[in-house]
Amino acid sequence: MHQIAVLAGDGIGREIVPEAVAVLETVAAKYHYSLEFRTGLVSEDAYEKYGHPLPPATLELCRNSEAVLLGAVGSPKMDQLPPELRPERAALLPLRKELGLFANLRPVKVYDPLIGASTLKPEAVQGINILILRELTGGLYFGPKKRERLADGSEQALDTLVYSTPEIERIGRLAFSAARARRGKLVSVDKANVLESSRLWRETMVRLAPEYPEVDLSHMYVDNCAMQLVRWPGQFDVIVTENTFGDILSDQASMLAGSLGMLPSASLGGKVALYEPSHGSAPDIAGKDLANPLATILSAAMMLRHSFGLEEGARAIEAAVAQVLDDGFRTPDLMTEGMTRVGTQAMGREVRIRI
Ligand code: NAI
Ligand code: MG
Repeated sequence: MHQIAVLAGDGIGREIVPEAVAVLETVAAKYHYSLEFRTGLVSEDAYEKYGHPLPPATLELCRNSEAVLLGAVGSPKMDQLPPELRPERAALLPLRKELGLFANLRPVKVYDPLIGASTLKPEAVQGINILILRELTGGLYFGPKKRERLADGSEQALDTLVYSTPEIERIGRLAFSAARARRGKLVSVDKANVLESSRLWRETMVRLAPEYPEVDLSHMYVDNCAMQLVRWPGQFDVIVTENTFGDILSDQASMLAGSLGMLPSASLGGKVALYEPSHGSAPDIAGKDLANPLATILSAAMMLRHSFGLEEGARAIEAAVAQVLDDGFRTPDLMTEGMTRVGTQAMGREVRIRI
């Protein structure tokens, strides 16, 4: 029996997570997997009931499960709270940290039928298959922060970008291993011309390289990488980078695939792993049956693969998603002429009937 903590969260999380759970149930029935879903509260629901966006009960539930399926956090109501209670800072970051999830895997795959949905030229995005590995528990989001008033009455705010050698080594090794299992090309992204933390990042990656002779390591400054991702994305296989750079580059790379709604993610490194779409709670479309559930459904496939070793089920989900797209079904974010427009629930149903 595999235990899965299910945290839908806010906004479209409440619509897309049930679709992913239903897909997992369909796969479980077909392949005789034994999955147990245990619901937990996070963000707005948790704040209303317990006065905190990540109450101890939810954290315990996650710690005692094998995997966590998360929708997204962030709502207009929660955004009114003081910074230390906002859900990203008070729930998402601590959850990642508490579970020791230092590696965020964000595969960017362009499905052939979606080539027309990308804003880039078809020949630029065809066949794109990039793995972005984002360091998730260090860097700017976790370094010391401060806000103070200066003598002249103005304010000063401070965020700190901190990385230690062991932190870089563990994500670095994962990146080398991932590249070795793929096409053998690893691009380490930093800003070593300006940032000291990036210099340590680069030195560490260079030091690890001889252990992985099959992997071709190169380095790229983050600003150049942003440009190269839209100029010639086909040059990339695996990209490894620090927390903030990875956050930004993966949102950017999502548009190669046509929509942020296509990008799954897995966060690994601890005993429990966390699976969530790369996007947020999309309050602009929440509650309207407009959200694309495929990123969450593909995250569920990653869960079967990485947490439970159920490769057959993972492939079944990925094949069903590819088939749905081949058959012309599109949520509004992917809609192009001549396709069949469907809502969140219908999209989930179309995936399930193809499993
Ligand atoms: P967002 O990712 O929620 O939305 C950006 C744009 O993409 C919006 O126009 C949205 O409608 C669209 N979009 C996102 N997911 C989609 C999907 N599945 N289907 C169709 N369209 C989709 O980012 P935004 O607007 O910056 O943030 C909204 C809220 O989400 C904020 O409160 C933010 O803090 C939170 N957030 C939470 C994250 C998480 O829980 N991991 C990550 C990013 C943002
Ligand atoms: Mg982000």
